[in-house]
Amino acid sequence: MKNGLEDVIAAETQLSDVDGEAGRLIIRGVSLDQLVAGGTYEGVAALLLDGLMERSFDEAELRGWLAKARTKVFVHIEAADAALLALPPVDAMRALIARLPDGEDFDTALGLLAAPAVFLPAVLRLQRGQKPIAPDTALSQAADILRMLTGKLPSKEQVAALDTYLVTISDHGLNASTFASRVIASTQAGLTSSVLAALSALKGPLHGGAPGPVLDMLDAVGTAENAGRWLAEALERGERLMGFGHRIYRVRDPRADALKGALKPLITSGQVDSARSALAEAVEAAALAILKARKPDRQLDVNVEFYTALLLEALFPREAFTGVFAIGRTVGWLAHAREQALDGRLIRPRSVYVGPLPAAA
Ligand code: CMC
Repeated sequence: MKNGLEDVIAAETQLSDVDGEAGRLIIRGVSLDQLVAGGTYEGVAALLLDGLMERSFDEAELRGWLAKARTKVFVHIEAADAALLALPPVDAMRALIARLPDGEDFDTALGLLAAPAVFLPAVLRLQRGQKPIAPDTALSQAADILRMLTGKLPSKEQVAALDTYLVTISDHGLNASTFASRVIASTQAGLTSSVLAALSALKGPLHGGAPGPVLDMLDAVGTAENAGRWLAEALERGERLMGFGHRIYRVRDPRADALKGALKPLITSGQVDSARSALAEAVEAAALAILKARKPDRQLDVNVEFYTALLLEALFPREAFTGVFAIGRTVGWLAHAREQALDGRLIRPRSVYVGPLPAAA
């Protein structure tokens, strides 16, 4: 038995491959580097879902259908009452998604791709006492998310940064939320149920909830000179350094560099404070040195969440981060759910009983 199912192969997939030794991510035969070079959310979504739904389509067709689906799901915002809006944004999103119909068809999938993109900005606005903004069918999903949040058309650098983020995190092997999605799919419960289970798994700090704490760490460190001392003290207190370490990667997470690259145009155009990114680089360097010294046998390196934190900070309020991760990862969850449903076999492992035995009669 392996604790945490570490290294256990639990599915065969054509969707993505994570090579933890080489630091390489492939999505449907395309490397992450190639995907992020001008890639869009709709492009990677079409790639991931290709051949898994009852009809085939390309990026442009998907863009049009998604825009219509955003308009369709917007009506559900009316169900956002005071009790729902008192929840953290990702929980409010989950409660709204739970009201969508459940099924295996293409319309259900489109609604699930559109819903988090519409619900998150609307929930954030409602929580601030602002009116939600309806979708604009002329825009791409990334541009519309930012416009629905702020009410303004985003800059081209902001749209490109969000597209790169959404592409980068679209799928990543059999991570905890994707596994949850496949388990539910194997019971034939429907795509909405798969997405709800996956979203519940994603929000934990060991999975998708780390970027907020990464920023808390940067704030607490404050200055580059303070980094080494602060990080050493945090480790002394038994804390983990957020944005470092990974179950699969034994080298630098390739997604970290994709996101660091996406930040550059925002920095050079003055849309991200260069002092903030300099502090992040200083913290990264100090953390890598300390982790290497303290854990020489377990190669701990930077993971996706570190630069996610910086990139998302430029575009969203901190409380939205896990929800933005969900917007991007939903397509991976759906693709895996469909792949599993087509496989048709119920996922039902066994456990080893280590509890007491009944008293002898
Ligand atoms: N800071 C300090 N020590 C660490 C860290 C860290 N970030 N990560 C692992 N370690 C230590 C850990 O304490 C353990 O030491 P020991 O053997 O003495 O107990 C050793 O390294 C091995 O760790 P592990 O818990 O067996 O590793 P894991 O595969 O279960 O954990 C992880 C992976 C991501 C949960 C962990 O590295 C972690 O908690 N990182 C911080 C949170 C974080 O950044 N999460 C986002 C993960 S990436 C998102 C994704 O791909 O979904």
